[in-house]
Amino acid sequence: MKTSLVTGGSGFIGSHLVESLLERGDRVVVVDDLSTGKAANLDAVRDHPQLEWVEGTIEDELLVNRLVDQADEVYHLAAAVGVALIAKQPIQTIERNVYPTQLILNRLGQRVKAGADVLCFLASTSEVYGKNPKPFWSEEDDLVFGSTTKARWSYGVSKAIDEFLALAFYREHRLKVVVGRFFNVVGPRQTGAYGMVLPRFVEAALAGKALTVHDDGHQERCFAHVNDVTGAVIDLVANDDCMGRVFNIGSDQPISILNLAKRVQARVNPSSAIEFQSYADAYDADFEDIRRRVPDLSRIHQAIGYRPTYDLDAIIDAVAAAYR
Ligand SMILES: NC(=O)c1ccc[n+]([C@@H]2O[C@H](COP(=O)([O-])OP(=O)(O)OC[C@H]3O[C@@H](n4cnc5c(N)ncnc54)[C@H](O)[C@@H]3O)[C@@H](O)[C@H]2O)c1
Repeated sequence: MKTSLVTGGSGFIGSHLVESLLERGDRVVVVDDLSTGKAANLDAVRDHPQLEWVEGTIEDELLVNRLVDQADEVYHLAAAVGVALIAKQPIQTIERNVYPTQLILNRLGQRVKAGADVLCFLASTSEVYGKNPKPFWSEEDDLVFGSTTKARWSYGVSKAIDEFLALAFYREHRLKVVVGRFFNVVGPRQTGAYGMVLPRFVEAALAGKALTVHDDGHQERCFAHVNDVTGAVIDLVANDDCMGRVFNIGSDQPISILNLAKRVQARVNPSSAIEFQSYADAYDADFEDIRRRVPDLSRIHQAIGYRPTYDLDAIIDAVAAAYR
């Protein structure tokens, strides 16, 4: 039986991935420190005989070595996430996103050297494109970050370092690793607590409160259902031709944040209001945002035939149903 290790498996995306891997027949080991994840995210599979859950941090080298040594496949999703959290805790963001990745890749590299055949997926983010002004972002595009005095860029830069490391391990140690850049993944179990926009809007609408739109609301984003995304992750890792490569994963159908608020209002609670808040009030006076974030999905479509299958209304309904 194949053993898959999922770091951050009690988080939003990780918990859905764990369910799919168990369904595939894997033995799944989850490691999570519950910093932003919740044990309850794995309630549906808690008693599954092939699930092992370890509470701990992947900043612990001995723990990482013990867990990586058991695994045939490693899905590395644990990270400091959420713009609100990152803007407030840049030290933690950098430490959590860089050092553990290095520990995991080092151990995997040692195992490959010893003759093991192991596969690895690294969760990266559309934030690595920074403020690249292109209307569609493709994987070979430049990374255009803002100043180091603006803490929010530490997230994208730390994930970019992870990508550099992973690709270097592929080249120098023949480690089979694939990098996925997630673009606004949404669905049941995502929390709005760290600034994620869709759960924030749905929670507010259900509570009869105003939906708070930052700035003018004309920022454009694309929202993909977590099931589409975890399916793509599994297909990428299963395809040898994808190793050593980087893939955008998400939806390529943009919507402005103001229109998203209007869609949530219409579907969840037409009597809730929409209000505006400046970035300075929401984050800090220096906060810089990205106006448009749309992936070019041709590479992942060519590689594994990926196309997102959920439309936005279905996603909003699923998120609202989960909250209810
Ligand atoms: N949700 C999105 O739209 C999105 C977009 C881009 C990238 N990503 C990436 O996807 C991955 C999963 O994100 P998510 O949205 O599911 O967030 P999440 O916060 O729900 O999941 C992250 C999980 O990692 C755990 N964790 C964090 N640091 C840890 C550590 N040192 N040791 C052990 N566990 C630790 C947290 O407790 C949490 O369960 C992250 O790498 C994130 O950067 C997500």
